Amino acid sequence: MEIPENNRSSAYDARFAESLGGSEYEDLLLALDFYKEFQAETGKALQEYIQEYCANADRVKVLEAGPGTGITTLELLKADPRVHVVAVDNEPKMLVEVQNRFSTIEDLKDRVDFVLADILTYLESCEDNSFDAFASVYTLHNFTPDFREKVISLIAQKMKPGGVFINGDKYARDEEHHKKDFQAEITNYNKFDTAAVEAEAVGDSARAEHLRKIKGEWIHHAGEDERNRITVDEQNALFEKLGFEEIEWGKRFDLVITVKAVKKKVAN
Ligand SMILES: C[S@@+](CC[C@H](N)C(=O)[O-])C[C@H]1O[C@@H](n2cnc3c(N)ncnc32)[C@H](O)[C@@H]1O
Repeated sequence: MEIPENNRSSAYDARFAESLGGSEYEDLLLALDFYKEFQAETGKALQEYIQEYCANADRVKVLEAGPGTGITTLELLKADPRVHVVAVDNEPKMLVEVQNRFSTIEDLKDRVDFVLADILTYLESCEDNSFDAFASVYTLHNFTPDFREKVISLIAQKMKPGGVFINGDKYARDEEHHKKDFQAEITNYNKFDTAAVEAEAVGDSARAEHLRKIKGEWIHHAGEDERNRITVDEQNALFEKLGFEEIEWGKRFDLVITVKAVKKKVAN
């Protein structure tokens, strides 16, 4: 693993690497029924892009921000055998775990490089035209608006013309729909209580306690995310400003949705 000297901290508060980190993050599957389908949307978006744009490419280089447990990385690698992922995460605990996980998968381990770095710092170090695609799930919404805009601007600058930006994340609709989406997310977290009761029924009180604790943490996290909220309209405006076209929004699952946009080959 490459360890940068200046692994500066960003707007992110490291909560995934601590109480919500590593394998515990997978507990989310208990609460969010759509989680796997939503992850697969990113792989599907990459696959569609490759089929349309990369017929003659030997290799498709994808820069991923925030691999976390590696669930998104796996979807990216499955999209096409020519995909090679550089996955950048700034939390050492997450990165060591995900790297260990992939090192045991013979067919995939040589198609992914994990880099411990802040994504903005990493992008600053990239040459122009250095990747074909950028992909991320559940990462950019954690950034403050200012930091996020800097990251997306650098992605636009460093990506090859004709490259693709794919992000599966929290994007708010208008106020009325957003309230409903937010309430649906909170309701989903009540499923941790059901799982806790089941754990108690088999005498696993430690597991029950853990599930109740993470329910509280995820609800708190959802509340905090409201401060850094980005709307669909704001993302569309940013795409326009940065020279992206062919913007496609995918299937919505409460607060989250996948967006894909292609960097124009020639600026207008
Ligand atoms: C919520 S997890 C998402 C993981 C995975 N993509 C998924 O959908 O389950 C967000 C990840 O982004 C990483 N992250 C947050 N801020 C970052 C930054 N500035 N640079 C690189 N990685 C960052 C976190 O450490 C965490 O692993």
